[in-house]
Amino acid sequence: MHSLESAKKVMAWCDELASITEEPGRITRTFHSPAMQLANGLVGGWMRASGLQVTEDAAFNLIGRWPCARAKAKTLLLGSHLDTVRDAGKYDGPLGVLVALAALENIKNDGHALPFHVEVIGFSDEEGVRYQTTYLGSRALAGRLTKADLDLIEEKGIEKARRKPGEFLAYAEVHIEQGPMLEARDLAVGVVSAIASQARIRLSFAGMAGHAGTTPMHLRRDALCGAAEFVSIVEKCGILATVGMLSVSPGASNVIPGRVDLSLDVRDQDDKKRSRVCARLQREAQKIAKERRLDLEWHIVQETPAVPCDPTLTRLMRKAVALHEDEVIALPSGAGHDAAEMAQLCPVSMLFVRCKDGISHNPAESVRLIDVSKSIAVLQDFILHLAKQN
Ligand code: HGY
Ligand code: MN
Ligand code: MN
Repeated sequence: MHSLESAKKVMAWCDELASITEEPGRITRTFHSPAMQLANGLVGGWMRASGLQVTEDAAFNLIGRWPCARAKAKTLLLGSHLDTVRDAGKYDGPLGVLVALAALENIKNDGHALPFHVEVIGFSDEEGVRYQTTYLGSRALAGRLTKADLDLIEEKGIEKARRKPGEFLAYAEVHIEQGPMLEARDLAVGVVSAIASQARIRLSFAGMAGHAGTTPMHLRRDALCGAAEFVSIVEKCGILATVGMLSVSPGASNVIPGRVDLSLDVRDQDDKKRSRVCARLQREAQKIAKERRLDLEWHIVQETPAVPCDPTLTRLMRKAVALHEDEVIALPSGAGHDAAEMAQLCPVSMLFVRCKDGISHNPAESVRLIDVSKSIAVLQDFILHLAKQN
């Protein structure tokens, strides 16, 4: 099937998948929720219809496998994640799974026999919305779950999803760019050079709840004023830093906030710079707490180092892009991806697809049919280049 036909199918699949949510009126699918189980059922059906052997592993990752003739061959893993942020767009994650499925289907239908097995995977928890720890699905596969992860999550036994080191030949992921670079260069696709380093931190300021009408301003230990001062420092810290969640307690208009819990997300392509800024922000929070007689709790939930994409695979991906684009650019990813975890298990490569105004983590996320068609054709050529050299 020509990749434009496949692209129409992928767009229709994304639309249908978008209707599966745990929050009516907006797209939200979190780790192992009933909505995620429905999503695995729907996408698993499409995989089965393409002739793949469909399974779900112990970490609820959905896997469609196309074995090759040589039982002892390695496996090429393709895919992305099927979970979403809250009030998500249709394409962050699902596009990568469904473009991989469409590309593999075309290769199968064109009668190619590959020298390696291929698996298309829908990871179960890249966004980490439910437990605030990202990559549960891909870390389970890579055997990198920590005791803290296993203690934190209700579902037991997900570590059994671990795959053998050396089993995978490579991992390739197609993903919307979630940024404005490709659009600015009027390019449909581009290769990814590296994935940013990120830290997820949880902190809280605790003061003293009190009566809004009787407590003089100078006697207050107002946790929200401390948090507000901290958030404005975060905004000016010089690298990508975000307070995405903030909860105030006890939460009444006539009560001085006694406690505020916040999330902090800090990113940079340079690990050292990112950890320096995190340390500086922690010192700033301690200073605010001291001056305002607040107690500070600071907990690093997760730190993921910057991950370069594999140069050999990226050369093959560049070669594939060159067949479909006048210019081949490589760009860093500010967003995290399962590829960051898979890089601990095998070489990885990523292909970005232009998205309108670079918008993502927002229902306004959108892609062009012709760009999706190009990404399918590029991924097909990447797979065939990889086959030639194996
Ligand atoms: O937060 C991220 O970078 C990704 O969307 N999980
Ligand atoms: Mn995302
Ligand atoms: Mn994503």
